[in-house]
Amino acid sequence: MNAQAAAEAARVPLADIDVSDPELHRRDVVTEYLRRLRKEAPVHYCANSAFGSYWSVTRFHDIMQVDMNHRQFSSDGTVVIDDQFFSGGHIENEKKRSSFIVLDPPHHTSRRSAVAPGLAPANLLKLEAGIRQRTQELLDSLPVEETFDWVDNVAIELTMRMLAILFDHPFEKRREMLHWSNVVIGFPGDGVVESWEHRNRVMTEIHEYFDRVFKERRANPVGHDLITMLAKSEVMSDLSPAEFLGTMTLLMTGGNETTRNSMSGSVLAMEQFPGELEKLKANPALVPSMVSEVIRWQNPVSYMRRTTTEDVELQGTTIPKGERVVIWYLSGNRDEEVFERPDDFIIDRPNPRQHLSFGFGIHRCLGNRLAEMQLRILWEEILPRFDRIEMVGEPTRIHSNMFRGFHTMPVRLHRKT
Ligand code: HEM
Repeated sequence: MNAQAAAEAARVPLADIDVSDPELHRRDVVTEYLRRLRKEAPVHYCANSAFGSYWSVTRFHDIMQVDMNHRQFSSDGTVVIDDQFFSGGHIENEKKRSSFIVLDPPHHTSRRSAVAPGLAPANLLKLEAGIRQRTQELLDSLPVEETFDWVDNVAIELTMRMLAILFDHPFEKRREMLHWSNVVIGFPGDGVVESWEHRNRVMTEIHEYFDRVFKERRANPVGHDLITMLAKSEVMSDLSPAEFLGTMTLLMTGGNETTRNSMSGSVLAMEQFPGELEKLKANPALVPSMVSEVIRWQNPVSYMRRTTTEDVELQGTTIPKGERVVIWYLSGNRDEEVFERPDDFIIDRPNPRQHLSFGFGIHRCLGNRLAEMQLRILWEEILPRFDRIEMVGEPTRIHSNMFRGFHTMPVRLHRKT
């Protein structure tokens, strides 16, 4: 527990608590506000936020209940608190529903099933050697006993290498995908997107690229990359251009912020809980359960938003039809009724995959096995090379209520002796 943050959270009247404020996330105090909501108002109504009114669901089992009930808690149209994010006048209605994360059944089902085989364990096995080789090359090129930024040099770089393999995108152009991904989730004035026109221009560029590559691979479907897998699927051929673009950008952005922040989160976790690093060194067979624990503890996606399709009762509270309901995975993963010492990073927990970070139900993350594989390979390759990744300054966190992540993390590597 962070006593100072807990005192701050305790001073705010319950009705005024607004856990959607990105500043609470950037300052990393939001977990104490969420702790208070779990205890005092597990289904909490915030009447005024920068994004309008919304409900927060903060306990593990209630979050699961909402996530499993897509009929009453719909994803249709948006899964973010900010309605403007998808409908700020710059994206017309058709595009608004173009990506299947914002669709309900039956449309969601067919599109998801087209993508699923490309990210299933059997196909990932074919990509593993390439991901390992690029991870090894990167780790061997890093400066030792010198300060550098882990986020840009390792977390972002490795994520881009992983996505380049997944899409079979030219290796030397991997940073192009980073730019595209930042533009897709960006908005004017964020330092990346200059204007809506700029964003639309880049979206057209992305569309042209994927459209061309998709057609080439459909004509010659020999690879194991995701685009070739999709090119073999009939569902994909029936999609409108906007739906096609939505699917490709979902895959690009879905794997980007999330995976990179779990990699940085693993370094922070080992720094804050050095005993766990010693445990891992003594028993590298713990790497897979450590990976799941990083994903629980770091929790790269803080929430998903649903919209009620009718009046629904949850924990004795009636949520009216048409309301925003925010399920805080970040809170459910710290629920003291479910996890022993929930704030601690413990790599040998009895049920390490029992966490909410990938969501539940019909929208459960399709890239979960890929993300776990990348993180597992990273640590399997770190252990024989380095004794410690020392954090030599405070990491800076991003200003986002949705992605829990880092801008910078200064580190110094110490070689294994
Ligand atoms: C959906 C988290 C990595 C692709 C989701 C959801 C979460 C999530 C919370 C929504 C679940 C729901 O609404 O119930 C994460 C985390 C990751 C990660 C924490 C890394 C640690 C990836 C990667 C990819 C990916 C690497 C692909 C390259 C997707 C897709 C969906 C999704 C396509 C939409 C599924 C659907 O709507 O049916 N992810 N993700 N994710 N994720 Fe991930």
